[in-house]
Amino acid sequence: MARKKIALVGAGQIGGTMALVAAQKNLGDVVLIDIPMTQGMPKGKALDIMEGRSVINSSVDLQGSTDYAALKGADVVIVTAGFPRMPGMSRDDLLEKNCGVIKTVAEAIKEHAPEAFVIVITNPLDAMVYNMQKQSGLPSNKVIGMAGVLDSARLACFVADELGVSVEDVKALVLGGHGDTMVSIYESVSVGGIPLPQLMTKEKFAELAKRTAGAGGEIVNLLGRGSAFYSPATSAIHMAEAYLLDKKNVFSCAAKLNGEYGVKGLYCGVPVVVGANGVEKILEVKLTEEEKAAFNKSVEACKKNADWVDAHT
Ligand code: NAI
Ligand code: 2OP
Repeated sequence: MARKKIALVGAGQIGGTMALVAAQKNLGDVVLIDIPMTQGMPKGKALDIMEGRSVINSSVDLQGSTDYAALKGADVVIVTAGFPRMPGMSRDDLLEKNCGVIKTVAEAIKEHAPEAFVIVITNPLDAMVYNMQKQSGLPSNKVIGMAGVLDSARLACFVADELGVSVEDVKALVLGGHGDTMVSIYESVSVGGIPLPQLMTKEKFAELAKRTAGAGGEIVNLLGRGSAFYSPATSAIHMAEAYLLDKKNVFSCAAKLNGEYGVKGLYCGVPVVVGANGVEKILEVKLTEEEKAAFNKSVEACKKNADWVDAHT
């Protein structure tokens, strides 16, 4: 069987880290693609990882390119192309800047890799994945956005720290848009199979949910330049693996809703099943009235940005 091909559009902080993680997992051959202005950078990162493969027991091939034609034959395309957040910037400040970048990349994917499964990471996430699907014309089950895996992992980390347990035993779920309005679901968290409400008060959970919504900003402020990249990279590779290995993993991601949760034609963070057919199912989790109201508020925030995209494309 031929090796799978993973194209990473945007060879910056997240792109480079994804290349390393994909190689460590022997997930497939990797091509890092960036703009011509970056000159040898994508090739340099690919070569750097290539030279260390004997140490990580990896035999995949890595290439770098500044030509979108390198997308050809990609099974998965992961898009980080664009500008990252800087201190003082919200994810939405990136809307205008990154909308044009995504249009260019969408057209390239349509031309060179129309069969690929596309994972968008570029912010503002929900609007950029909406824009990607609109501009590429790819079916919505093949275009998703990475946010829920990361936001849920962050929540799981904070819950584990608070309870003094291994994060490996904590499963969490964060829904809605990838922004301040994201919704952490109290009753969906489980700790070694025990529902969280048996172990933590709702008030304490609300504190951790607040930290989760601000977690991206917390890292932006600490780094001083750019935004989180290790955990976004591992989150996206987890999603790619679900597709490439037909794992039927269940996780939250920005998926296009078609009536689920009472929403139609909009991308927003919901739990999905991902396998060889891309998004194979959208799962509807039972929400409390309070969570429903918070989710609807988050949908409104996604809609506002999607409307902006529609008005400007
Ligand atoms: P970065 O600046 O290190 O990398 C972005 C790369 O995209 C740069 O190398 C740039 O030259 C390249 N690029 C720009 N225009 C391009 C084009 N037209 N074609 C190909 N490449 C192009 O940024 P980083 O840290 O990798 O973040 C990337 C994006 O991911 C940002 O928008 C950031 O806000 C977002 N992000 C999203 C998260 C999520 O949960 N969805 C989490 C963290 C970051
Ligand atoms: C994050 O959540 C900035 O969206 C980016 O880290």
